[in-house]
Amino acid sequence: MIAIQTINLTKKYKGKIAVNSLNLTIEQGELFAWLGLNGAGKTTTIKMLSCLTKPTNGDAIILGNSIISNPIKVKELINVSPQETAIAPNLTVRENLEFIAGIYGSDKRQSKQKAEDIISSFELSSITEEKAKTLSGGWQRRLSIAMALISEPQILFLDEPTLGLDVVARRELWSVIKRLKNKVTIILTTHYLEEAESLADRISIMAKGELKSIGTPNELISKTNTARFEDAFIALAGEGGIRI
Ligand SMILES: Nc1ncnc2c1ncn2[C@@H]1O[C@H](COP(=O)(O)OP(=O)(O)O)[C@@H](O)[C@H]1O
Ligand SMILES: [Mg+2]
Repeated sequence: MIAIQTINLTKKYKGKIAVNSLNLTIEQGELFAWLGLNGAGKTTTIKMLSCLTKPTNGDAIILGNSIISNPIKVKELINVSPQETAIAPNLTVRENLEFIAGIYGSDKRQSKQKAEDIISSFELSSITEEKAKTLSGGWQRRLSIAMALISEPQILFLDEPTLGLDVVARRELWSVIKRLKNKVTIILTTHYLEEAESLADRISIMAKGELKSIGTPNELISKTNTARFEDAFIALAGEGGIRI
């Protein structure tokens, strides 16, 4: 089944194009990466697909539902771990999780149970009583992803999940993301090449709001006639990048 289909999906801010007529299809169960330099349009795309901002033109169909005509249904099926994490700094890890479970309609007992389940599957038990603001960047990201999964979404958007993390924290988060693979469709944005290469089934490369190419790292290397993925990326995403 198709998880996401975008149809000429476009966003303009005051006449400036942030995302230009995006057409692509993502299958259910895929881990799909949007790779692009800063300003490429990755966050804007995620905001449109998760109904946080309306497209200027075009549409996207999420598991059969239009983001334009049925955003309420779309919001039930998806969740987002945003680029700026959405955790409440003065609540503990456990309180953050219970709070989110409550927002999604669980009663007090169910919320406690959901928080407990996620604490165990995300290995958060050593930090449950700590205030979120005291956590390292890596733990905050892990909590943010755990919070996004409380509502049991079918599609999870991760916007630059490892931005600013050190190498060790980044690797730990990669293993968290790898464990989610095949349980939930994951759309990940990043500007780290090795992150997309290591995690994604398919990669789309965006530059200045345009979709330049889609494929596995090897497909992108062979399409661009390059030797390494980094060279393929530069051919597509750099100044005057080609579109294939
Ligand atoms: N709220 C906004 N108002 C005006 N311009 C915006 C807004 N959000 C993003 N943009 C512009 O849209 C383009 C794409 O931004 P963004 O989607 O954040 O890129 P990325 O996430 O790939 O770094 C950039 O040129 C950015 O300045
Ligand atoms: Mg962004």
